[in-house]
Formats: sequence, structure tokens, C-alpha cells
Amino acid sequence: MAGPGAPEAAEMMAGVPYFEGLSEKTLKAIASEGKVIAYDAGKTIVGEGGAGIGFYLVLEGRVEVRKGEKVLATLEKGQFFGEMSVIDGQPRSADVVAVSPTKCWVLVSWSFAGLLKGHPEIALPMLKELVRRLRAAQSAPAS
Ligand code: CMP
Repeated sequence: MAGPGAPEAAEMMAGVPYFEGLSEKTLKAIASEGKVIAYDAGKTIVGEGGAGIGFYLVLEGRVEVRKGEKVLATLEKGQFFGEMSVIDGQPRSADVVAVSPTKCWVLVSWSFAGLLKGHPEIALPMLKELVRRLRAAQSAPAS
């Protein structure tokens, strides 16, 4: 999916640790696979229980991951969400809501799989982040 805003995406993605070490050319090619979408504050980007084929990387702004009244996490520039449904095809596990004007780089699931196959070095830091989230969830007080 070559989206409008790809050069902007590449520039913003250059500061994201997952893409460190990739050449500018490679990053531009990766960026052009997705598209940049802007959300107003208050907008629900992903709804719990919905079908999901998009992987999201926050480029600007801030989002909250919410389950009912509970805020599970706040994610900012360089952090991702939506990977769970993209990986296993199950419904979205939580709401993700923009809490400030937010821009995300969005990649459809088949492009996400292609990204990790083409650049497996990105997968390990993502797995580390998933483990960090799992540990945080384990140590969170039960609701
Ligand atoms: P997905 O289930 O596709 O859609 C909702 C997203 O919220 C989910 O993917 C994760 O990216 C994110 N998410 C769910 N639970 C947590 C959590 N405990 N901490 C951080 N992010 C989460």
C-alpha cells in the first residue's frame, strides 16, 4: 500500500528505535508500505472486539489502551499497538483511543508479515516490548 505521506512517514520513523540501523532507502521503502493516518483527540482508533487487520505505530501524539474504565497503557511516539489481532487474527483485545491529536503509521497484516520476514532484526525488539507489556500486566493489580 503506497500511501500519501510516505516521505513524511520515513522521516518520522527514522527516530524510532525499531528502525535504527536501516538505510534511508530501506526505511523509505518500508514506510511506503503503510500510510499515515491522523486522529483527533478522543477518537477511538481501535475498538475492543472488532476485527483488526491494522498494525499501528505512533508517530506523533499519545494514545491510551483501555479495557472498560481501566487504562492498561499509554503509548507515545515510537510505540506500537494492534499487533495482537494482526498476529493471531482474533478480535481486538482492548480499545485504543487518541488522547491528543495523534498520527499513526498503519500497516495491514500481510504487509506486517512481509516486514518481519524481510527485516527479522525488527522482530526481537518488538518481542522484548511484548514481554515488557506482559510483565507489566502480570504485576498490575487484578481488577
Ligand atoms: P489488538 O488486540 O490488536 O488491539 C488492541 C491493542 O491494545 C492490542 O492489540 C495491543 O497492541 C494493545 N494492548 C492490549 N493490552 C495491552 C496491555 N496490557 N498493555 C499495552 N498494550 C496493550
